[in-house]
Amino acid sequence: MRTLTVDLGDRSYPIYIGSGTRQQKALFDKAIQGKQVMIVTNVTLAPLYLDELIATLGDSYQIDTCILPDGEQYKTLDTYQQIMTTLLEKKHNRSTSIIALGGGVVGDMAGFAAATYQRGVAFIQVPTTLLSQVDSSVGGKTGVNHPLGKNMIGAFYQPQAVIIDIDSLKSLPERELSAGMAEVIKYGLIADVDFLSWLETNMTALMQLSTSELSDAIYRSCQIKAEVVAQDEKEGGIRAILNLGHTYGHAIETEMGYGNWLHGEAVAAGTMLALDLSTRMGNLSEADLQRSLNLFKSAKLPIQPPSTMTVEQFIARMSLDKKVLDGDIRLVLLNQLGQAIVSSDFPRQLFENGLYDALESAMKKQPA
Ligand SMILES: NC(=O)c1ccc[n+]([C@@H]2O[C@H](COP(=O)([O-])OP(=O)(O)OC[C@H]3O[C@@H](n4cnc5c(N)ncnc54)[C@H](O)[C@@H]3O)[C@@H](O)[C@H]2O)c1
Ligand SMILES: [Zn+2]
Repeated sequence: MRTLTVDLGDRSYPIYIGSGTRQQKALFDKAIQGKQVMIVTNVTLAPLYLDELIATLGDSYQIDTCILPDGEQYKTLDTYQQIMTTLLEKKHNRSTSIIALGGGVVGDMAGFAAATYQRGVAFIQVPTTLLSQVDSSVGGKTGVNHPLGKNMIGAFYQPQAVIIDIDSLKSLPERELSAGMAEVIKYGLIADVDFLSWLETNMTALMQLSTSELSDAIYRSCQIKAEVVAQDEKEGGIRAILNLGHTYGHAIETEMGYGNWLHGEAVAAGTMLALDLSTRMGNLSEADLQRSLNLFKSAKLPIQPPSTMTVEQFIARMSLDKKVLDGDIRLVLLNQLGQAIVSSDFPRQLFENGLYDALESAMKKQPA
């Protein structure tokens, strides 16, 4: 097992990465604050891992569970209310600890519940998807969706610990594994070209769930995220580079309907649009653009936007994005592989041309 620290002064916390960590009682005992524990999970994960987690915790705690419906469409205030109701019905007090057992949806909602229940209680992340292991469980963003926008209601709230068990990926559908790989590739693109080369060499092993390669990829991804978060916890500046491909991606996710395109799939296609614009602006070579495209392909990710979308839809959705300041669309672009910048100062014409060309090419690839 390996341990990383997210360095945030008195709110610093460990990330444990390894095989079988979810059976290590000591990791949980260290992070749990009082005598009460509320495990928040969903209907898919409960039959797979809930009994085992309860057994790991043993009889030292009052353990209650809250089993949510599965899906991004349930990442709502109504579901959040279900967590609150369970906490109150089971008489959890201010020293309770909430454990999120699941992917990013469970983690974001359980985290928001932890941030707000009695003005804040202890919170432990046990992420079970690759995406949540490398991204959403680290950094303290929690929240729910509003019908008018994704993640529009939430809080920054750091966990006590993140306990990553690589073995839990064995039950994950391959499509979800690919979606998580989009965020792994993102870290290479924004911060570490050597990691990007390493991913090119090891993508086959990663997709086959080889433990040692997965452990390395998750470790390096969490390390990059932790470094960025330590510099800029509340996204006043540099943290925004973690959103490479996300402004485009969110447009795809919302336009196509939550759940039809997975977050990571939308991010992959969105990242290719951002890289394409970077190339049009003369900052990224054609060869590097092609390298990135091949890497996404090798992780079985889409590299083109949905052929049914229009440029106008992209622009409308992107102008509504959270990252929009004063009406300007802000994008993460690359200066070179491994080096990202945030900019609202890109040639509008090149941006629109990029979208037109990508959508036209996606349409041509559609089977008749
Ligand atoms: N907080 C952040 O910083 C942050 C960052 C990125 C994404 N997110 C959020 O994360 C969410 C996406 O997370 P996700 O990709 O983990 O999706 P998810 O939580 O919906 O999980 C994907 C699917 O896999 C199932 N699943 C999870 N673990 C499994 C396992 N081990 N075996 C079998 N099935 C399993 C889930 O039940 C679900 O059906 C989005 O809501 C996104 O907004 C948050
Ligand atoms: Zn993401």
